[in-house]
Amino acid sequence: MLELKNVFFTVPKSEENREDLLNIIDGVNFTFEAGKFYAITGPNGSGKTTLAKLIMGIYPVSQGTIVYNGQDIAGWTITERAKAGIAYSFQHPARFKGITFRELLTVATGIEDENTLLGIMRRVGICPLSFLDKEVDAKLSGGEIKKMELATTIAAKPSLAIYDEPDTGIDLWTIGPMVSLLKKEAAEKQTTTIVVSHNKAFLEAADIVIIINSGKIVYSGNLEDALPLLEDLSVCTYRDSCEGDGNAECFR
Ligand SMILES: Nc1ncnc2c1ncn2[C@@H]1O[C@H](COP(=O)(O)OP(=O)(O)O)[C@@H](O)[C@H]1O
Ligand SMILES: [Mg+2]
Repeated sequence: MLELKNVFFTVPKSEENREDLLNIIDGVNFTFEAGKFYAITGPNGSGKTTLAKLIMGIYPVSQGTIVYNGQDIAGWTITERAKAGIAYSFQHPARFKGITFRELLTVATGIEDENTLLGIMRRVGICPLSFLDKEVDAKLSGGEIKKMELATTIAAKPSLAIYDEPDTGIDLWTIGPMVSLLKKEAAEKQTTTIVVSHNKAFLEAADIVIIINSGKIVYSGNLEDALPLLEDLSVCTYRDSCEGDGNAECFR
């Protein structure tokens, strides 16, 4: 179980005046139950990635606590959290020149056996033989690198897995199997799963849909009741300024 208690992440609004502060995450309280599947959604820039990074310890909380399985982890390093079973799949994974996918997967999992590595890759929809000795560098496509990131996260067998937009750049025919795979991991291994996504396939698969807006959790519950709220949030707030004059900034 993961509890976020009055969590804030605060930054200065500008370099010039560091006293004037902005809450990117603005007093979040939420309990993630063990083994459940959560989808976090909300407008671009609403704080989804920041919240995920606070849980993994990539950013420090400015205020509040994070309690994981009864322990206050807010002051723990990323490595300490990883050892406690928390894994994070980046929205924009790092690329490494000169390192192959095989090497990266082995470092992440400690597994050297080729058949086991191939099995992990097959599960995330990577055609194994052509891939294992490919370099994880800038030449890899966006979708390929996301699949690789997914493979390393799953292979770490986390008890809490956070996936930040795992479907970005992924081919259409892989999204369905990816949703099923993450759902199965949550159900069979009791992995608490948090997926940040705009994709309806993930929202439909989730036990609980969470909507973040302006750094606050504004909804948690079923998808049906979330949909009208998502529709409201998709209307740009500067609508008045673009009505009638065909302002291209406004989609409606
Ligand atoms: N370390 C940071 N310093 C200053 N601003 C940040 C920082 N991290 C994120 N932001 C800003 O906070 C907002 C939320 O970002 P993010 O969490 O990435 O949004 P999203 O919901 O799209 O994942 C954005 O406006 C972003 O520019
Ligand atoms: Mg994001």
